[in-house]
Amino acid sequence: MRIAVVGVGHVGLVTAACMADLGHEVVGMDDDAAKIASLRVGSVPFYEPGLPELLRAGVDAGLVRFTDETADAVPGAQVVFICVGTPRREDGSPNLSYVQAAAASVATHATGPVVVAEKSTVPVRTGERIRQALRLEAQARGDDLGHEVVSNPEFLKEGTAVADTLRPDRVVVGADSAGAHAAMRALYEPLLERHPCPYVATDVRTAELIKHASNAFLATKISFINAVARICELAGADVHTVADAMGHDARIGRAFLNAGLGYGGSCFPKDVEAFVHIAAELGYDFGLLRETDRINREAKQWPLGQLRRLLWNVADKQIAVLGVAFKPGTDDVRDAPALDVIDAVIADGARVRLHDPVALDGVRDRYPDAVFCDKAEDALRDAHAVVVCTEWDEYRAIAPQRLAELLVYPVVVDARAVWDHDALVAAGLTVATVGRPTDAAAQS
Ligand code: UDX
Repeated sequence: MRIAVVGVGHVGLVTAACMADLGHEVVGMDDDAAKIASLRVGSVPFYEPGLPELLRAGVDAGLVRFTDETADAVPGAQVVFICVGTPRREDGSPNLSYVQAAAASVATHATGPVVVAEKSTVPVRTGERIRQALRLEAQARGDDLGHEVVSNPEFLKEGTAVADTLRPDRVVVGADSAGAHAAMRALYEPLLERHPCPYVATDVRTAELIKHASNAFLATKISFINAVARICELAGADVHTVADAMGHDARIGRAFLNAGLGYGGSCFPKDVEAFVHIAAELGYDFGLLRETDRINREAKQWPLGQLRRLLWNVADKQIAVLGVAFKPGTDDVRDAPALDVIDAVIADGARVRLHDPVALDGVRDRYPDAVFCDKAEDALRDAHAVVVCTEWDEYRAIAPQRLAELLVYPVVVDARAVWDHDALVAAGLTVATVGRPTDAAAQS
């Protein structure tokens, strides 16, 4: 089939590459001419394993090309994926003006009926707004080509986005007509042949809700275990064993029960707030999700509290921060919990020594006074304490004895539980591990 993808950020580019891998003919379009120019020479502007290779294969097969003109991308397309950004407004609601503009430009440039598929995460009932934008533009042009609107949410995680798209747990398609459902089913048929999985065909509103409900549920799971972590610290118990044992219950599952620094990234924080907002607009106070968000904000302040407890005054100390990406396997620092930690430590008057294997470039401008270190050991050397903010594997490989040698004061705040708590204590380090008893609780 012939497909256009409007907005080639993380979601759009992965969608374009994967659709081409399924044999479809794809045009990726973005207003950002510089981004398009670099994509044309094969450069992917962010870190996503497997994506550059998949895109190159699509381009070599003549199935993918890029343009910065809607007039070049849309004519002839049967399905247009809208993958533009939905930035958060001050009040937590998403700004949908890029979605509206994308829809209007599809109607302006379409030469035949198009299925407009929302991939950007949007609040329930946005499909109706897109339909309205298409209709208004059609009226302005004086012709109504009968475009359809579908919701086809993605569930891709950064770092495993290609696999999540080509081998999904489920495909969700919301449409309000048999014709739109048939077009989307035809689009996904090659994927379902390769990788049979549940195909959930529903109406547009339900599909929109599935996306928000899924992300909000996962975020709530994380906040739940972070709240349990606080109790474990106070009570003298081990949250990681609690999570493992809970996870053996098939009804609960172990995934997304890693206590730590809370959730970050471009999706969970924004989606939780947006879901609360749309619920309120519809007349429902989603107090559970407001609490999920509150616990997450609190989780990001945990390291500073521990540093104050263990160092007394944080001012004028050097603090090594290991990891700035919002999770391992990505260079993305959007809403990364590490940023809250670094901001708080700097506000307390400390100097930070930062390390991350791939994400440091994303924070250089934000922290002009920080020391940027190419190696984790360089960050640790001369630091009075270390805080682990991202659980990169290379940090796990640092031996407790080596930590003790490098740090000026032997103070470790392990907010992602990368090290064995008991091994650190045995090496003579003063340790706060998320979800493990504090010294006071251990002794009582
Ligand atoms: C998420 C969803 O998983 C995906 O389905 C959706 O399409 C986009 O949003 P992503 O943001 O890439 O994907 O990251 P994810 O792996 O879900 O992690 C989100 C955040 O939660 C990270 O900051 C991570 O460190 C944190 N997290 C995750 C935990 O703190 N504990 C866990 O157990 C799992």
